[in-house]
Amino acid sequence: MDQYKDFAFVYDELMDEVDYDGWVKYIEDIIKNENVKVQNILELACGTGNMTIPLTKKNYDIAGIDISDEMLSVAREKAEKEGVELVLLQQDIAELDFEITNLDCVLCACDGFNYITYDDDLENVFTKTHELLKEDGIFIFDISSFYKLSNILGNNMYGENREDISYMWQNYFDEEENLVEMELAFFIKDEDGRFDRFEEVHQQRAYTEEEIVSMLKKSGFNYIKTYGDFTFESPKEESQRIFFVCKK
Ligand SMILES: C[S@@+](CC[C@H](N)C(=O)[O-])C[C@H]1O[C@@H](n2cnc3c(N)ncnc32)[C@H](O)[C@@H]1O
Repeated sequence: MDQYKDFAFVYDELMDEVDYDGWVKYIEDIIKNENVKVQNILELACGTGNMTIPLTKKNYDIAGIDISDEMLSVAREKAEKEGVELVLLQQDIAELDFEITNLDCVLCACDGFNYITYDDDLENVFTKTHELLKEDGIFIFDISSFYKLSNILGNNMYGENREDISYMWQNYFDEEENLVEMELAFFIKDEDGRFDRFEEVHQQRAYTEEEIVSMLKKSGFNYIKTYGDFTFESPKEESQRIFFVCKK
């Protein structure tokens, strides 16, 4: 399945309404509230570096991993422009293999784990993360909630018609497998004013909060907190993004 190939080069433009500065601040507030000392961070599914670059600028030592060469190439280009040095690795996190252990923090932002569609694979990521963290290290991630994927994105169609980019986004929710298949068609204006068309099919798995908590426990995490939608309150039935804060 082609995911985050051509899309990588328009990802940032289409995510321009996401408040990444606010997201970074929220992650730092979590770290502060948990009273843990974080200097190094391993970021899973780091994409084009929208969290990686600002966190590096705040003097954390970060390594980012992503499966998409294209997303990583955009991250590299941005880092070079901004004079930031990044350590980036191309890897499928379902088979996470990172040499450095005793990490202070492992982070996965903006629903990277919804792309891991099999329980066994996600459990494997959690188990590997548990092994990589130091004894009082912290694991922070978010998922798009079951509610969001089944009820909002669900079987809906979205579209946008901008000056240089237009897209159509059709979703199908498989209730047996709890999978959303997203068919994306993009139209990108070239230098001659003509539109190039490309397509991608993405698949995201809808996990309930309880499923994730149970996998985390199986993987050895004993301390698990959950928050809804960038707050410090428990997720509600209609929360769209659920944050997990875990320690060994
Ligand atoms: C919604 S993007 C989030 C990117 C970035 N974290 C951000 O906040 O902008 C999801 C990312 O997950 C990556 N991804 C999906 N499946 C993956 C896998 N199995 N291993 C590593 N990365 C994966 C994609 O390539 C993409 O960069």
